[in-house]
Amino acid sequence: MTDTKVVVAEIVAETPSIRSLRLVREDGAPLGPYRAGAHIDVTGPTGVLRQYSLCGPPTETASLTIAVKREPASRGGSAALHEVRAGDLIAIGEPRNILTVAPDADRHVLVAAGIGVTPLLSMAYELHTTGAEFTLHYFTRSRAETAFLDLLENRAEFRDRVRLHTGCTRAEQRDALAAVATGLTGDSAVYTCGPAGFMDTVTEVVTPVVGIGNVHIEHFEAAEIDTSGDTGFTVELDTGESFEIPADRSILSVLEENGIDVFKSCEEGICGSCVSNVLEGEPDHRDNCLSVADKAAGDQMALCVSRSKTPKLVIELI
Ligand code: FES
Repeated sequence: MTDTKVVVAEIVAETPSIRSLRLVREDGAPLGPYRAGAHIDVTGPTGVLRQYSLCGPPTETASLTIAVKREPASRGGSAALHEVRAGDLIAIGEPRNILTVAPDADRHVLVAAGIGVTPLLSMAYELHTTGAEFTLHYFTRSRAETAFLDLLENRAEFRDRVRLHTGCTRAEQRDALAAVATGLTGDSAVYTCGPAGFMDTVTEVVTPVVGIGNVHIEHFEAAEIDTSGDTGFTVELDTGESFEIPADRSILSVLEENGIDVFKSCEEGICGSCVSNVLEGEPDHRDNCLSVADKAAGDQMALCVSRSKTPKLVIELI
């Protein structure tokens, strides 16, 4: 995937631990548009690559905006991006989407917690632009820890559409979500991004009303996986080449070792770069990027983490 060098044009301290970075190309050429809900690879000054959601208006072509939360256990990614200054150069990849706006929903409910607001902000811009019926529910610990507060409370696109929920206990969160669910139908779309436990609660509460196929999730973290029962299997490509995948190796690593080019980025099952088509066999999904519906369909899989329930898989690389 080609990297583009961009200049950090503006930095805003959104909260004590979250800063937004507006990025422009050095030569002034356009960077957008992109599809709402997209994320990009960002390689910061220390060379660490991470994925960040785009959170500006998708139709804006002059710049891209990301927001970075400084993680206490940062291994160099978010901490380094908290050190960059306006005028510094960083590298970014092409926008990619796991999350997208569902075209036929009767209404759209965006449910964010913490830094999870970022992909949902770009979706809110798009829903506003298309005139769709939407509400953004944003759960944070306090107003001081609410990113984009001024934008959400005062911009015309958002001020009547945003419900801020600050300082809620878990029980209050569940009650608020249950109240949201009462206004939905089987044709409504719910999008959620935030900590895994929060998204599990959102899914539990709204699924009985909208159905699991209408709950759209964006993960920031890799799934925890029990690998103790893993066994080997065979992967055949649509070209006819065949590879043995040992119990302790990923499909991706075996293909790469054999000189097969596969798109990849996170190698943790969250970015979607390595997702490929499954022509035969049943994947054992271990990723956090495909939707429940995609996993049930079984015709796509993430090669970096997912395995096989059948002795052989036939795969078509995308
Ligand atoms: S490389 Fe990111 S999901 Fe596989």
